[in-house]
Parts: sequence; structure tokens; C-alpha cells
Amino acid sequence: MSDPKPQSRISFATRFGVIAATAGSAVGLGNIWRFPYEAGNHGGGAFMLLYIMFVLILGIPVICAEFAIGRQGRSNIFGSFDRLSNRKGWKFTGYIGILASLMILSFYSVVAGWTMEYFVQSLTGGLSAASDMHGRFGEFCSGWRCVAYTVAFLVINFLIVRKGVRKGIERMSSIMMPALFVILLAFCIYSLTLPGARQGIDFLFNPDFSKIDSKVVIGALGQAFFSLSIGLGCMLTYASYFKDSTNILKNASMTAGLDTLVAILAGVLIFPAVFTFGASPQEGPTLVFEVLPDIFNRLPASRLLSALFFFMLFLASLTSTISMSEISTAFFSEQFGMSRRRSCILTTAICLVFGALCALSFGALGNIPFFDFFNYFSSDILLPVGGIFICIFAGWIIDRKLLRNQLTNNGTTCVKFYKVLVFCIRYVAPVGLAVILAVGFGII
Ligand code: PHE
Repeated sequence: MSDPKPQSRISFATRFGVIAATAGSAVGLGNIWRFPYEAGNHGGGAFMLLYIMFVLILGIPVICAEFAIGRQGRSNIFGSFDRLSNRKGWKFTGYIGILASLMILSFYSVVAGWTMEYFVQSLTGGLSAASDMHGRFGEFCSGWRCVAYTVAFLVINFLIVRKGVRKGIERMSSIMMPALFVILLAFCIYSLTLPGARQGIDFLFNPDFSKIDSKVVIGALGQAFFSLSIGLGCMLTYASYFKDSTNILKNASMTAGLDTLVAILAGVLIFPAVFTFGASPQEGPTLVFEVLPDIFNRLPASRLLSALFFFMLFLASLTSTISMSEISTAFFSEQFGMSRRRSCILTTAICLVFGALCALSFGALGNIPFFDFFNYFSSDILLPVGGIFICIFAGWIIDRKLLRNQLTNNGTTCVKFYKVLVFCIRYVAPVGLAVILAVGFGII
């Protein structure tokens, strides 16, 4: 493996580009598809409260730790760990991140493919003609079209990542993120005018603490990590493209804040509609693909609304997948000296194989649950475990002075919060994560 040269690395061009890219990575299907059904299954308000708590006390410190390691290491995940410690064992954390990113990208592209199919079907009227959404979804998932859309999505993703950090990732995120916000806000305003708005909002914001058990706690933790794109080196890789003047704590807080805001807005969009039309909030992963299209069909301008909604989901997916791809693209190109194009092709090729397996697990390979396994193993295990290692590395292994200089930009910003932040990185986050994982797996 070759040692990457730090000077040759590019950086994000603008401050807006940085926040569009990091928030773009965080905001994705996790907010609009996963959060509402997880909250619906786990009692609404109580889940949301736990989720927000985890974002604040575990999420923000882990993002800051990733940012600090990435900007100091100025390399891909593997290279940064390698450069900042002389103990070989730490390279292992790099491999965890690369494996997690490839696994998430594979199953995520399947769902992103569903959003493309639903967008096309909304425009052509195929969705409004369907009377049985459950049957419609099942038929699509089990057919070859599901694999074809997964491949199509991965190709679009490839075309953006191949263009590089500034022209591909930064430029596209800066266009797609504002568009996503405008569409989401318009939907929320519309949803709040529906007759079931009060009931929906009540469900989302009124916590029922009797619903909290170990499953809800683990679910909220996994959701927080997945949604913030942390624990696998995504934020670390992006931070390696930050300028020295980028304010780490401010960017971490803005990323977490925007991500949580979008998750809440997605709930505000979905639950009033669900209650207005007497659907159940506990539908699970198909909430967005079966219940919502049914609801759109009963509203005026249903084709337009539904097309806009699935287009928004597609944009959200794409800003996230480009960040997942960047982890291994940077790894292959910097550690093995490959061209960006080649490393992008390699990343895409691996995910095409895994993605096809995940897509086929809804059809021809129905007896092998690839999709569920990839989803569970990467989000609920690899991410929190990766998060623990990242915090230990930032808090205990790298030079204290380097960490301080990174978190405070050489003592010029955020000095007041530095001690609290380091305390969270060294103790609160790793211990909290270990305890939650242990409880979740029934070890204690
Ligand atoms: N945070 C993204 C979402 O909410 C998913 C993601 C996970 C992206 C891990 C990058 C890395 O959809």
C-alpha cells in the first residue's frame, strides 16, 4: 500500500458546500423512510425523546471525534488511523468502516431504487391506477425491475462520485439539499391542513414512557447512528477535505440539528396523513411505500404530489450514498494508488453484486434474508462498535494537543466547550455505547 501525500488532497471550496455535504450525508432515507416507521413501531413520542437525547450526548461528540481524526489525518479512514497512531491494531477500525460502508451502500441502494421506480410510476400514472398497494409493492420487489432500479441508482451515484470532491460531491449536495428542504417544507404545510393533523402531531410529540424497553432503546440508538452517518468513517472522510479554518463543533451541531429537524419534519408530514385516512402508524418499513401512495391517491393532484415526494426521497438517498461511496473510493485510490475513476468503479462493482443479492432477497432468493442481515449487521452492530473505537482513538490514543488544536482550531474557537466535549468523547460516549449494546444483546 502506498502512503498518500497530504499536500495533494483537495478541500471543499465553500462553507456552504461543507454543511451541504455533511448534512446531505446525514439526511437521507434514514430520516424520511426509517425514522417515521421506527417511531411508529416504538410508540412515537417516547422514541423521539430518546433519539434526541442520543443525538445530543452521543451523536455530536462522535461527529466531533470523526471530524478531528479526519482533518488531522488528512487521509481516508484507513490512512488517518494509520498516520495518527503507531500501533498496527488501529488499522482494524478502518476495515470495520469500509465493510460497514459497502454493506450499507448495498442495501440502501435497493431502497433508493424503490424511490426511483415509485417516482417513475407516479409520473406515468401506474401508481394511481393500482388499487392494492401491498400487492403492488410485493410485485415490484420480487421482480427483475427491483434489481434493474438498484443498478440504475448505483450508476447515477457512480457518475457523481467519479467527478470528485468539489465538482461531484460538493456541487451536487449544494443543489440537492436546498431542493429537498423546499419540497419537504411545502409537504409539511400541506399535511398540517389535513383533518387528522392534531392526532398525528400528538402521536409524534406526546411521549408515553411506558413504551420504553430495551428494544426501544437499542432501536433509538441504532437510528441515531444510522441517521447521523457516524461510526463508519463517513464524517471522518469528509473532514479530511475540510479547510483548517472550518469550525468543527459548529459544523457538527449544524449537521446534527438539520438531520434531527428533517426527521421531525418527516414525522410532521407523514403522521397527520396517516391519522386522517385511518391508516396505522405501525406499518413498518412499508409505511412510505404502501400507506403513503394509498393516501396520495385520495388527495387532489395525486400524481404530482406522489412524484414530488418520491423525487425528494431520491435526492435524500443520493446525497447520502455519495458519502458512503467516498469512504472506499478514497481508501482504494489513496492506499493502492488507483485513479479516482478506477476506485469508483471498484466500489460500484462490489455494491452491484451485494446490492443485487439484497434486491433478490425479496424475490428469487427469498429464503436468504440478505437485505435484513446487511441492514441489521451494519447499522445495529458495526456502527455503534465503530463509534466506540473512534471515541477511544480520539479521546485516548491520539496526542492530546492535536485533539485540542483540532476541536478549537488552535485555541481560537469553542474553547469554552472543549472540556465538556472531550469528557463526552473520552467517557460518556464509549461507556454509554458499550452499556447500551450490552443491554441490547442481553449481556447485562
Ligand atoms: N445517514 C443516512 C440516512 O439517514 C444513511 C447513512 C448511513 C449515510 C451511513 C452514510 C453513512 O439515510
